[in-house]
Amino acid sequence: MSKRYTITAALPYTNGPIHIGHLAGVYVPADIYSRYLRLTGNDVAFICGSDEHGVPITIKAKKEGVTPQDIVDKYHAIIKTSFEDFGITFDNYSRTSAKVHHNTASEFFKTLYDKNEFVEEVSEQLYDAEANQFLADRFVIGTCPKCGNEESYGDQCENCGTSHNATDLISPKSVITGNVPTLKETKHWFLPLNKHEQFLKEWILEGHKKDWKPNVYGQVKSWIDDGLRPRAVTRDLDWGIPVPIEGGEGKVLYVWFDAPIGYISATKEWAAREGKNWEDYWKNDDTTLVHFIGKDNIVFHCIIFPAMLKAEGSYILPENVPANEFLNLEGSKLSTSKNWAVWLPDYLQDFPNQQDVLRYALTANAPETKDNDFTWKDFQARNNNELVAIFGNFINRVVVLTNKYYNGIIPEPSDLSSIDQETLAAVKAYPSVISSSIERYRFREASQELMNLARLGNKYLADEEPWKTIKTDEERTKTVMFVALQIASALSVLCEPFLPFTSAKMKNILNSRDNSWNNISSKEILLPADHQIGKAELLFSKIEDAQIQVQLDKLEASKKANEAANKAIEPQKKEITFDDFTKLDIRVGTILEAEKMPKTKKLLVLTVDTGIDTRTIVSGIAESFKPEDVVGKRVTVLVNLAPRRLRGVESQGMILMTENESGDLVFVNPDIAEVDNGLKIS
Ligand code: 2FM
Ligand code: ZN
Repeated sequence: MSKRYTITAALPYTNGPIHIGHLAGVYVPADIYSRYLRLTGNDVAFICGSDEHGVPITIKAKKEGVTPQDIVDKYHAIIKTSFEDFGITFDNYSRTSAKVHHNTASEFFKTLYDKNEFVEEVSEQLYDAEANQFLADRFVIGTCPKCGNEESYGDQCENCGTSHNATDLISPKSVITGNVPTLKETKHWFLPLNKHEQFLKEWILEGHKKDWKPNVYGQVKSWIDDGLRPRAVTRDLDWGIPVPIEGGEGKVLYVWFDAPIGYISATKEWAAREGKNWEDYWKNDDTTLVHFIGKDNIVFHCIIFPAMLKAEGSYILPENVPANEFLNLEGSKLSTSKNWAVWLPDYLQDFPNQQDVLRYALTANAPETKDNDFTWKDFQARNNNELVAIFGNFINRVVVLTNKYYNGIIPEPSDLSSIDQETLAAVKAYPSVISSSIERYRFREASQELMNLARLGNKYLADEEPWKTIKTDEERTKTVMFVALQIASALSVLCEPFLPFTSAKMKNILNSRDNSWNNISSKEILLPADHQIGKAELLFSKIEDAQIQVQLDKLEASKKANEAANKAIEPQKKEITFDDFTKLDIRVGTILEAEKMPKTKKLLVLTVDTGIDTRTIVSGIAESFKPEDVVGKRVTVLVNLAPRRLRGVESQGMILMTENESGDLVFVNPDIAEVDNGLKIS
């Protein structure tokens, strides 16, 4: 039965092109799902667009000496082209600078305001007096109060995914000037998430325990268990959607308030163009809403946006949010700033017309349940050993032999043997096997089932050997080729969600426009006898070691450039007075005990003899040293640093560290034998 679906894919920030991590995490799975739903006869609105507000865009514009509008115009065009190039079939790809979006987001805000769904509050926020700028979101970094990551952003820590308020950061620092911020009063509107806690508990924790992915459910549960707090949904910035109420002058909506509303505005834009009613896709209980996102977006799509929709009152909520984990590249985290990425425009230049190879490699190795690694060797193997040797080989043999033996005209079969019947019955079972994987968001598994069908075709040909029987038994050969052509036809339809360009090529070769997934199981015959097919065309070609080496060399060059940049001497900090210097009390000490801080990657809890006393110091060195390696170590300790709490433990000082030539963390070693702890160094 046909159903209505609204499928959204996270709106990418328009501050750079997109890379393989974006494709693997969000857009390929969302496209496979949407194509599958259309092929099975459903009514689908597949929605996306550019996320054009937020601090990263203004930072990039400042750096390049252009306007934020220049930045978003440039990358909106590049990103949109990449999606088209890779066959991502959005029904609408809009942008949040569009008028329809500004109006929709403003109205949404006003509705919540009129319904008293916000708390208006004057509070002290971080402020950079030199830049004359409040420091929200990515304008400020500091230590994450949850995991100790020292480079957490003001609104979200990329290390542990926690979403917090900028004032929660420990030791915040302005990204604009490097200054330590002061506090300044300002008025903002807060969404009281605490008010929605009960509803979220019932809806997700009780209602979706079984059907949401464990990684998504687990994150959401942990946030709800920690207790939800009000979140500011406005900002003191000049780039964004103006706050549309009295008192909101000079302020804009928080980018994470306006961006998800972008899904609604993009649907409105599409519906107006197509003569449809957008409300059917957002306000009708018969519609299934699914958000495809990466794991860093979970809190916004599972807690904040649903709370906004619920508070508004007339919208449906997502049925599922199948977030993926992250894709790494050759063992390291993908990074735009370090140019550790495979950019889509670059890929297409080096592998022209090979979009399906990348789609397939990313799907077969998708980070569905845990972070995964993309390696060029795996990419090559997926192409050479699976797409070329199994899938392409089968189709090629069927088409070549049909042309050779029958001038491309499908022969009339004789009686089917039990092997033929079993083979055709097995083919008929594939649509439901693949459907079942796709409907459970297991796209890796689905892609492997598709490959199994091609394997089945190869095995059938290898067992029945039409190239031998053609010399001895013409009737049997006709039957075998007829059966093999049915498998080829089924593959041409079932591969469409995964390999859309290949599917189109295959349908062209087979001269078949039948596009229905369900026909494969229900129709007796997919390609009838006497049907004329076309000539063979290569579907996939071998990727040579030299091509892979080019890619590895590019990454090596990025690595070298990063190392060189890291070695670059940092500019001198602001001048300090002698009095400032003498305030530092630095002593020689010894580490007596060390243990890992539970549930963190970076922190060690150290017990240190400072000569003055024995105290606890929490140090972010756990990724470089094991506890047993540091016990007994002579160290240099800043003893009069104001105490601060990290993960509930009070840290009473700082161990001085630096980096060696290879960038490894090393202790600033007092290097004075036989001196007592407590010796003053400054
Ligand atoms: O993480 C990102 O790239 C965000 N721009 C995603 C936004 S998704 C949505 F809510 F629009
Ligand atoms: Zn964190």
